[in-house]
Amino acid sequence: MKYIPLDINLLKTSLSNKIVGRNILYYDILSSTMNKAKLIAKNNESEGYVIIAENQTKGRGRFNRNWISAPGENISLSIILKPTLQQLAYINMAATLSVYEVIKNYTNMNPTIKWPNDVKLNQKKISGILIESEMNSNKLNYAILGIGININFNPMKHLEISSIATSLYKETGKIIDRTAFLITFLNIFNNYYIKIKNQEFLTKEWSSKIETIGKNVEISSNGELIKGKAIQVTENGDLIIEFSNNIRKKITAGEVTLESN
Ligand code: BTN
Repeated sequence: MKYIPLDINLLKTSLSNKIVGRNILYYDILSSTMNKAKLIAKNNESEGYVIIAENQTKGRGRFNRNWISAPGENISLSIILKPTLQQLAYINMAATLSVYEVIKNYTNMNPTIKWPNDVKLNQKKISGILIESEMNSNKLNYAILGIGININFNPMKHLEISSIATSLYKETGKIIDRTAFLITFLNIFNNYYIKIKNQEFLTKEWSSKIETIGKNVEISSNGELIKGKAIQVTENGDLIIEFSNNIRKKITAGEVTLESN
């Protein structure tokens, strides 16, 4: 092991009285933290488990893309949550806002959110978020929130993503203490999650940070590329696009990829 491992005891003691992080599982290697989290969620009533891996052999992103993360350099985790179906739409907002805030604290730079859930710094992707959930008739059994944040990673060493990805190390020139970063991040996310549980919703705060609004975008949906202007987001985070003929269309994150940078 070449990297400095996370200080798991410090993480556990710092988060023991929170909802998010009251159970933390830490692995050197997993196929994907999403798979592990799903197995736990199916057999366990409680929420707030955080599953962290230093290395993933099959880390995945949205639309089944690969997620690339060098072992021990970044943060790759999944959180088991049990919101209601109505609260589910806000989990993505809480996650992107939390990544946004912790990155802003660490860099003094202004990150942006690319709809629906990429966080960018200096116009390059620093974090990706993936939410997978399971329903039973109309009830949500659980949601797994997967987050990857590029911390001490040098994207130049990974040709596939070197032109589109960045990291805290690349932007600040400093190696970051991942344990302290993660404690800050999970505390921020826990506070947002409590707001959601109390039916305080986050759309206004979230939409004010979305760089996509007001821009011309290309939407890929079922293999077709559609061009339009992103006008606004709805209360539960869908994006409204206006086409050149003034017709508007609501698009949901699950259906489309946004091609604009
Ligand atoms: C995306 O940008 O497409 C989402 C990327 C999500 C990556 C994280 S890393 C931790 C968790 N485990 C995975 O396999 N994926 C998510």
